Amino acid sequence: MRAEFLFRWLHVFFGIVWLGHLYFFNFVNLPVQAALDADAKKAVNPQLMPRALWWFRWGAMVTFLSGLVLFGLIYMRTPGVGWGPNAIFQGGEGLSDRARWILWGMLFGTIMWFNVWVLIWPAQKKLLSGAVTGELADALRRRAGLASRVNTYLSGPLLIGMLGANHAGMGFSYPRLIGLSLAALAVVKVSYVHSLFVGKSV
Ligand code: HEM
Repeated sequence: MRAEFLFRWLHVFFGIVWLGHLYFFNFVNLPVQAALDADAKKAVNPQLMPRALWWFRWGAMVTFLSGLVLFGLIYMRTPGVGWGPNAIFQGGEGLSDRARWILWGMLFGTIMWFNVWVLIWPAQKKLLSGAVTGELADALRRRAGLASRVNTYLSGPLLIGMLGANHAGMGFSYPRLIGLSLAALAVVKVSYVHSLFVGKSV
């Protein structure tokens, strides 16, 4: 079995773990938290949040690291020759189309990873410890909430880049990247709106 296949599997598995929790937070937990009173939150959140945030942040880490390994194996190695940009990375003139799709996807994914590890998790850690209250706690909640929302939107274009590299069935162009990304953002927006109504009755 090729190492590339193993890392591809790991990458997609932990990508699902990460984004699955991101969508749980944004499409399920947001409306649930809005419906809970203070006592219910005190009972539920100390059980729910540390577990969900653990899978969320470590899912992000493994996805990111396995993505970098994949990038190295696929684009930066020529078997029998050695390391360095290969023929898959370089097209006729400059970057290949496959490299262009994936580099955009990797840019979005890296911003999302940064948001998780530098903005969302440090804020949530302080909130969960109970050490901060009042205005500071509100500011941390707003910061984490905004970064989480940005990541939910970015996940749409991220998957365009990830899947575009191998499965777009068409070459790279900016109008295609922008058009497909806008369509993906629209799906995220509709999901947010839908999440306010879904599940209120069976
Ligand atoms: C966080 C930063 C990320 C980096 C650096 C990264 C990197 C990569 C690389 C280098 C590839 C191989 C592309 C190719 O075959 O040409 C890839 C493929 C892929 N990635 Fe990511 N990725 C990231 C995040 C994600 C996330 C969050 C998901 C969500 C599920 C994801 C899902 C996929 C999928 C589905 C593929 C295509 C697998 C295939 O077609 O065989 N990636 N990624």
